[in-house]
Amino acid sequence: MVWRLQADRNQLPRLLLRLLFLLPTGLPVRSVDFNRSTDNITVRQGDTAVIRCFIEDKSSKVAWLNRSAIIFAGQDKWSLDPRVELDKRSVLEYSLRIQKVDVYDEGPYICSVQTQHHTKTAQVYLIVQVPPKISNISADITVNEGSNVTLVCIANGRPDPIITWRHLNPTARDFEGEEEYLDIQGITREQSGKYECKAANEVASADVKQVRITVNYPPIITESKSIEAITGKQAYLRCEASAEPKPDFEWYKDDTRINSAQGLEIKSMGNRSTLMVANVTEEHYGNYTCVAANKLGVTNTSLYLYRPGTVIADNGSTSLAASIWLMAITLFCLICKC
Ligand SMILES: *[C@@H]1O[C@H](CO)[C@@H](O)[C@H](O)[C@H]1NC(C)=O
Ligand SMILES: *[C@@H]1O[C@H](CO)[C@@H](O)[C@H](O)[C@H]1NC(C)=O
Ligand SMILES: *[C@@H]1O[C@H](CO)[C@@H](O)[C@H](O)[C@H]1NC(C)=O
Ligand SMILES: *[C@@H]1O[C@H](CO)[C@@H](O)[C@H](O)[C@H]1NC(C)=O
Ligand SMILES: *[C@@H]1O[C@H](CO)[C@@H](O)[C@H](O)[C@H]1NC(C)=O
Ligand SMILES: *[C@@H]1O[C@H](CO)[C@@H](O)[C@H](O)[C@H]1NC(C)=O
Ligand SMILES: *[C@@H]1O[C@H](CO)[C@@H](O)[C@H](O)[C@H]1NC(C)=O
Ligand SMILES: *[C@@H]1O[C@H](CO)[C@@H](O)[C@H](O)[C@H]1NC(C)=O
Ligand SMILES: *[C@@H]1O[C@H](CO)[C@@H](O)[C@H](O)[C@H]1NC(C)=O
Ligand SMILES: *[C@@H]1O[C@H](CO)[C@@H](O)[C@H](O)[C@H]1NC(C)=O
Repeated sequence: MVWRLQADRNQLPRLLLRLLFLLPTGLPVRSVDFNRSTDNITVRQGDTAVIRCFIEDKSSKVAWLNRSAIIFAGQDKWSLDPRVELDKRSVLEYSLRIQKVDVYDEGPYICSVQTQHHTKTAQVYLIVQVPPKISNISADITVNEGSNVTLVCIANGRPDPIITWRHLNPTARDFEGEEEYLDIQGITREQSGKYECKAANEVASADVKQVRITVNYPPIITESKSIEAITGKQAYLRCEASAEPKPDFEWYKDDTRINSAQGLEIKSMGNRSTLMVANVTEEHYGNYTCVAANKLGVTNTSLYLYRPGTVIADNGSTSLAASIWLMAITLFCLICKC
């Protein structure tokens, strides 16, 4: 702590001192400047602060003052605060102990020592630090693609925490700026997922909380494959769609809706649907349609159950059956540039 000249600021403690020691107001207060360490004491909220002060002889008049009040005058406690007491490990020590320090304790503390000839004051500035804490974060939300979304994250702490946002998945992206508010305009399906708000100051480890954004969008069929099937055997037609919320599936053979009956079984789970033909017969060959729908839209694709020997265009979607012969001619033509 620094023993420093009691300047004109802190007029009130000085006035209080004059009253306490009955100093003649005109007389300048002489001070000694001991430069020992910093004149700031930093304490975490809830901890105990000990502000040290030592006197030179037992006959000195001593007092502890706050910004606005006398805390101790000699051994008499003026403060009504039960957290405040003197810390005297030796006859010459006159330190002040404050338990369970809180933010309102922050401020200047003055130890005043009056000997016969002069008055010394030591001023210490108590800084109270508070770890970062997120007090409020947006609730999880579901929006339609293209919406404008604002996320909010409110944090407390001393010094004021720095707030940063991060998109955790599927992309791990940090957002620019240190903002309580995160604005996403025209949100896309790739921007769905978890967002992390981090509040950090130098006092303690950062506080972190998450919020999830679900972005709804209409289905798109991502996978469907035509297959060859042998009569008398089982066959599976598969269809996968990307959608939020998860799609409902329907299957059609030509223009007729298929129900799970007569050797056909539809199994849909999440974003996949399978049509099982238990025992393939001639009537099963042909054109099937997989329809995927959610509240935002509907889409479909056609796929085929082929007789063995029919070549399948392997790009899935609306593939046309082409014979090996036709394929060979196409290849031949390509090579010969005919
Ligand atoms: C007080 O200490 C600081 C740094 O420790 C130093 O720069 C400064 O000169 C000192 N002042 C006096 C009056 O000794
Ligand atoms: C004490 O803290 C104040 C801010 O609260 C700062 O401006 C000042 O430089 C600090 N003094 C020392 C000696 O660290
Ligand atoms: C310092 O003064 C303020 C304002 O009077 C008071 O609220 C606070 O409790 C005081 N601190 C101590 C440690 O007495
Ligand atoms: C959190 O913030 C939201 C929006 O600003 C507000 O409606 C809600 O009351 C807040 N909750 C708490 C616990 O402060
Ligand atoms: C989103 O914000 C932009 C720019 O502020 C505005 O032009 C647009 O109309 C908003 N869209 C919606 C769906 O509110
Ligand atoms: C498939 O159907 C044929 C004709 O109806 C029948 O002969 C055969 O036993 C069936 N196979 C199986 C595995 O059910
Ligand atoms: C379908 O769901 C599975 C499991 O949830 C996931 O791994 C896959 O990426 C999804 N496919 C599409 C196209 O959404
Ligand atoms: C298969 O069925 C769909 C839907 O009914 C139709 O659009 C498509 O043209 C059909 N394909 C063939 C090769 O008949
Ligand atoms: C498939 O989509 C086309 C074009 O959107 C539509 O004309 C057709 O009726 C749909 N088929 C089924 C079975 O939903
Ligand atoms: C899929 O195959 C069909 C018929 O062979 C063709 O017309 C179409 O361009 C192909 N699509 C892709 C994306 O390769």
